Amino acid sequence: MQMYLAGDDGIATEWHFQHLAKYAVAGVGCVFTEVLPPEPRGRNTHWDLGIWDDSQVPALTRIAKFIEETGAVPAAQMGHAGTKAARQRPFDGLQPLGESDAARGEPPWQPAGPMDEANVEGYHTPHALSAAEIHQLVDDFGKGVARLALSGFRFLEIHAAHGYLIHSFYSPISNRRTDAYGGDRSGRMRFALEVAESVRANWPEQFPLSFRISSIDAVDGGWDLEDSVNLVRELKSRGVDIVDCSSRGVGAANSLARLEKEGKSLEEGYQVPYSEHLRNTVPIPTIAVGLITRPEFAEKILQDGRADLIAMGRELLYDPHWVLHAARTLECETKWKDWPPSWEWWLEKREKLGIKRVD
Ligand SMILES: Cc1cc2nc3c(=O)[nH]c(=O)nc-3n(C[C@H](O)[C@H](O)[C@H](O)COP(=O)(O)O)c2cc1C
Repeated sequence: MQMYLAGDDGIATEWHFQHLAKYAVAGVGCVFTEVLPPEPRGRNTHWDLGIWDDSQVPALTRIAKFIEETGAVPAAQMGHAGTKAARQRPFDGLQPLGESDAARGEPPWQPAGPMDEANVEGYHTPHALSAAEIHQLVDDFGKGVARLALSGFRFLEIHAAHGYLIHSFYSPISNRRTDAYGGDRSGRMRFALEVAESVRANWPEQFPLSFRISSIDAVDGGWDLEDSVNLVRELKSRGVDIVDCSSRGVGAANSLARLEKEGKSLEEGYQVPYSEHLRNTVPIPTIAVGLITRPEFAEKILQDGRADLIAMGRELLYDPHWVLHAARTLECETKWKDWPPSWEWWLEKREKLGIKRVD
């Protein structure tokens, strides 16, 4: 999850270290960095992390090493914000950067996209990437991945969802190009597939590669689940091992804003049906994500064969010890043994002692 707390150099700070280390200590099986763009233009905000320069490797290496030492899997996510670049941080308003932002040292820059059209009303007009610029970006993804392998990460995900650059190429809503990177579905998918090839070539064969996709646009005439089956089959044939099934994001500030626009009441696990369909149709291992907050529900998704892994965001912000609590709720045999030994010894004793309530 993006923290929006790096400098313009995109280098991870002590904040990022503690943010990710905390989850590794607390039993999360696989801890992902926030999305790392392969070029500064691909940042959402001035405050994002990045992987476009060797100077960004040491701080990420320290994070990956610590996660690995706890027994969790250090995982990295790479992506490019595309037409959604150059915004304020969510807690500063999430608006496109303007003059007042420039006055306080956060000037806007021109985002890049499939077309010279913003896909969210009021956003900056992007630069339509030429074929030569697309080739350069595909290459930059490969270089970024090589840096992540060097940093010690063991699991890689490419963010190709939520209306960001890769999704904006495969969605018919945001891509009406007429060259080889547009037109029919295979033309629109070309950029995603070339990124997959470049990334796989630079990512060690023994380490898994995931693609996070927007399974549906939920917009009339938009990308649908059948399109996703097709895309995922093509990704799989290029060495993608797992698909992270998210949705939406074209034409809205983010995927959650899109849901608000649809006026949908949010149901737990609202994206699990996409995971189930892709897992069983393609077939391919999947990650389910989105409003999965109860241990029993998460476990049932796995037991029912609707996903292979569960990804969690906001619930872990709310309760960083969620996994340890879930292990107790689900009565896993290990009980306190999952907790760091220096905590476990005291907590077990406290539990045995019991606490008398005073009202
Ligand atoms: C603070 C925050 C930052 C996020 N940053 C990212 C990100 O860097 N990459 C990504 O793929 N999704 C990001 N997301 C989306 C989450 O990964 C997730 O898909 C979404 O929050 C829904 O899952 P949840 O209900 O478990 O939070 C972010 C979400 C939040 C709340």
